Amino acid sequence: MGPVSERYRKPSTSVLDLIGWTPLVRLNAVTDGARTPVYGKCEFVGPGGSVKDRIGVAMIEAAEAASTLQPGGTIVEATSGNTGIALAIAASLKGYRCVFTMPDKMSHEKVKLLRAFGAEVIITPTAVPPDHPDHYLQKARSITAATPGAVMADQFYNQANPDAHFRTTGPEIWEQTEGRVTHFVASAGTGGTITGVGRYLKQRNPPVRIVGIDPEDSLIGPFFNTGKRIEGHPYKVEGIGNDKIPGALDLSVVDEYRTFSDGEAFRMGHRLAREEGLFTGGSAGLMVHGAVALAHELDDPDALIVTLLCDWGRALPEQDVRRRLDAGERVPRAPAPHERRRDARGEGAARGRPDHRETLDADPHGALDTHCA
Ligand SMILES: Cc1ncc(COP(=O)(O)O)c(C=O)c1O
Repeated sequence: MGPVSERYRKPSTSVLDLIGWTPLVRLNAVTDGARTPVYGKCEFVGPGGSVKDRIGVAMIEAAEAASTLQPGGTIVEATSGNTGIALAIAASLKGYRCVFTMPDKMSHEKVKLLRAFGAEVIITPTAVPPDHPDHYLQKARSITAATPGAVMADQFYNQANPDAHFRTTGPEIWEQTEGRVTHFVASAGTGGTITGVGRYLKQRNPPVRIVGIDPEDSLIGPFFNTGKRIEGHPYKVEGIGNDKIPGALDLSVVDEYRTFSDGEAFRMGHRLAREEGLFTGGSAGLMVHGAVALAHELDDPDALIVTLLCDWGRALPEQDVRRRLDAGERVPRAPAPHERRRDARGEGAARGRPDHRETLDADPHGALDTHCA
């Protein structure tokens, strides 16, 4: 065990003081021998277990400061889970009611967790266009309008979101790397993280490269690369990508955008648990996959890549995997150790796309642990 961090030597006054200052950990085995160091920021370490802990309290305090949120008021949000948990934690300490709308692709565990924190959760269909009244964002807007004393946290447009990352996540990464960070690799959901961290790091050192990672079938990456708005389609990774460009995302701080598949995300998620002891959500799998690909391309021991381990993999219990197995879903199996060793020597396909022909059935022992967020 390492030394006790300075911040834990003294007791904290409330759970809100435990938000932020997450650890930065070097990724080892999953980099397959890349010479460029890759570090993951452990956002799963915190009261709500995700990067959203930072913006939950920040958006509530911004609404309090603007007097739009009064004592006893209601906070409404369209959330894929983590922001809801973060808002619910801060709201429970501050005495606000929470009502959340959530698309039905999200895990049952996230819904149960939100309810455990006292929030009301309304489930909406995933496969509806963004302007449909049943879309989770439109639903949250109509609930806010119909509820006296309600404010919508509006993480997709609220500038308190990127500002929280500019004030906290960015400076932490700068300090933890002693200013040596050269690349920040992250996906955008609302865009708050990549925007706030990107702005801060570029302010400190303009050549720092900000690399966006998008799930296939999200609109953001194609829009960045072509200027065209493709029609987004549902995908499995939770919390990242979008079917529109959110107001909290400032694409001018991003230098390049890369797209990877659900399968690549889940496969790396599986490897993170098995080889690094990091049980993260699927979005971290996608970002780490992109960060490792970049590390091989750079092949530079003096560069330093930081990516985000956005949340804890609680969305992955057995019944979720069983449901997907029953549906005959194809998820690439993790390579056996001897295959990984071959890949590390560059003889295999680890740096390319995984083999999607493999199904969970092909890996009966690993199947129930396969990382499907
Ligand atoms: C699990 C997870 N990862 C990553 C992100 C992306 O963060 P941001 O919304 O700041 O772009 C989110 C946000 O929704 C998330 O829930």
